[in-house]
Amino acid sequence: MSKVTVVGAGNVGATCAENVARAEVCNEVVMVDIKENFAEGKALDQWETSPVNFFDTRITGSTNDYSKTADSDVVVITSGVPRRPGMSRDDLIATNAGIVKTVTENIIKYSPNATIIVVSNPLDVMTYQAYLTAKLPSNKVIGMAGILDTARYRSFLALELNCSPKDIQAVLMGGHGDTMVPLPRYTTVAGIPVTEMLSMERINAIVERTKKGGGEIVNLLGVSGWYAPGAAAAQMVEAILKDSKRIFPCCAYLTGEYGINDLYLGVPVKLGKDGVEEIIELQLTDDEMELLKGSAEAVRSVVKVLDNL
Ligand code: 2OP
Repeated sequence: MSKVTVVGAGNVGATCAENVARAEVCNEVVMVDIKENFAEGKALDQWETSPVNFFDTRITGSTNDYSKTADSDVVVITSGVPRRPGMSRDDLIATNAGIVKTVTENIIKYSPNATIIVVSNPLDVMTYQAYLTAKLPSNKVIGMAGILDTARYRSFLALELNCSPKDIQAVLMGGHGDTMVPLPRYTTVAGIPVTEMLSMERINAIVERTKKGGGEIVNLLGVSGWYAPGAAAAQMVEAILKDSKRIFPCCAYLTGEYGINDLYLGVPVKLGKDGVEEIIELQLTDDEMELLKGSAEAVRSVVKVLDNL
């Protein structure tokens, strides 16, 4: 018997819940939202797809009643205000830090041993906020960003190469923002280094598009995206519940890895039943390391804003 809670039944939360339910990796998905009847309505609508989409995961919703989330194995936190045009993810900190803190307290009260996946922005700092509040070991509090950012990168490369996105493997590090560090040296197309298939000029253009990938959607829709973020969070839930030891870039707590201490940042990790079971330390070139350090500094400056709130 396993149970997943998704806090926030907005676009990202509902997409994540639906993906988890359809993957049939748990018996029950509970969505919680502060808006009256919102989670209940979305959950019922999703449950009504079960005979058609052919899954038997029970999906229910609750208006802010965290007792319904009791004994969850994995909790995904998507709560908070999303970005609008002209805003950076960091502009959300004052509002979302308070929301993430309250939500985490409520979650821990009913599921003291849950693994928490944070999706709220600014991602790296909100994951840190959840870690401070939950007082869980750091392997059990993880941020979702790297799967989304690499998915964007891989999908753009597939368009450029006119090949299947299934064949593109990549790793990307750093914060979930314009300082993220995609690593073309570690990007392959069916095992072939991408650097042998595309010019550095084209790769660099795709790297730049990836860094601004979230903003590209905000500009098109007037609000941030949800299909890719929701699917990415669901993939983490699946890896944890199936104990599949998959390796993904995730936002994890660093204690000296890459020479970085006491910071949540995107790095390649192994995901299994214990959450982050290993942080993988790649050999970075001096240039790559410099970019990673720059990204860490950018995240640290937002942590300072959090400290001063
Ligand atoms: C994004 O990059 C919402 O931060 C999320 O789309």
